[in-house]
Amino acid sequence: MARPTSEYLLSRLTQRGDSTAIKSILAVAAQPGMLSMAGGLPAPESFPAEMLRAAMDSVMSRRPSEVLQYAPTEGVSEMRDLVAGLATQTGAPCTRERALVTSGSQQGLDLITRTLVDPGDTVALEDPSYLGAVQTFQQADARLLAVPGDSEGLDTEVLEALLRDGHRPKLVYVVPHFHNPTGAVLSPQRRRHLAELSETYGFVIVEDDPYAELWFDEPRQPSIDVYTDRVVRLMSLSKTMCPGLRVAGMVGPAPVLMAASNVKQCTDLQSNTLGQHLVAETFSDAGFLTGHLTRLRSLYRAKANELESLLFSRIPQLIFGKPRGGLFLWCRLAAELALDARAFAAAAVERGVAVVPGDPFCIRVDGSRYVRLSYATLSSPQLDEATARLAAVCRDALPIRGRGTAKINFRGGDL
Ligand SMILES: Cc1ncc(COP(=O)(O)O)c(C=O)c1O
Repeated sequence: MARPTSEYLLSRLTQRGDSTAIKSILAVAAQPGMLSMAGGLPAPESFPAEMLRAAMDSVMSRRPSEVLQYAPTEGVSEMRDLVAGLATQTGAPCTRERALVTSGSQQGLDLITRTLVDPGDTVALEDPSYLGAVQTFQQADARLLAVPGDSEGLDTEVLEALLRDGHRPKLVYVVPHFHNPTGAVLSPQRRRHLAELSETYGFVIVEDDPYAELWFDEPRQPSIDVYTDRVVRLMSLSKTMCPGLRVAGMVGPAPVLMAASNVKQCTDLQSNTLGQHLVAETFSDAGFLTGHLTRLRSLYRAKANELESLLFSRIPQLIFGKPRGGLFLWCRLAAELALDARAFAAAAVERGVAVVPGDPFCIRVDGSRYVRLSYATLSSPQLDEATARLAAVCRDALPIRGRGTAKINFRGGDL
């Protein structure tokens, strides 16, 4: 007979940060036949599989004893140079010494949290926020200072008012481009304002930016580190290369990076050597990145446009801002729908479509009438089928007299 959990003397840390929302969403999404718009998975056809296969042949034939060996905690030098180069192209100049290779940006988040945050310290973040970040901060026993946002990202005026009131976050967490889940883009004015606030109040800005390169029309903005050096950048390659290798970059002020590298040493000694060499080898082809990103942008732009027009014509009760990049639509359920987001998600699952209800992302704001839809992994016929099924969910949830006649105005940028 299974023993009760209490008999295993689990630490207090394991009781903090609720991971059940993500687990149950992913379990439902993985059910056979389910059309999943739930996960944050990139499109499999976006992976540079051929390039990686060629890179594998190359590194394994030329340097097997090196690529299969232990490597420095900070990362192999080719990969650190690549991270520093990418950081320099998109922000302030960076060198290898200020670049750390992490096992995904999720590890970067964990490392920077453990490097800066003691139990009871305050972490400010946009509300709603990426679930993986919320859980990491909660597990560290941080006090979450929820800052509302809109289509221009975290509202730095509200943050300033909170700082004036005496709140003293050690770090402020932002996802500046195509925010997960809202799709917001932090405006240039707010970036500058945030940088000024970090100088005045002495916090570190953690800029987690996995979607920055997946823009549709308007190119990404430079990192906030062009305005202040109080920035730690988490540079995931999961959405622009592939998540399976678990190779990402982190750059920031040298003392912070050195401390984070000590924390990393206790965690996993290093990120996987072979994966780092594969990524560095693939990027060593000078034309790779530009061509690859151009392909990804048109892939996701087409998917986003398709979902947008399907929803627009079939489900006027889902209200969302025009997608500008990234993988997600953050949709508000019109008031006339007799379902909140959890009930909507449950009804969608019954019809074989997985979507994520908004409230797990939300700290203080009310997410009960929001759902997040990903357009990344479904094919065109699947998007067609999934939206037909969601339309049926909405029809069932309309008052009898309103069915088929609802008219809701599209309100761009309404988050
Ligand atoms: C905002 C954000 N940060 C970090 C991550 C995790 O990235 P990685 O795969 O590099 O760990 C995700 C994944 O969805 C994300 O959306």
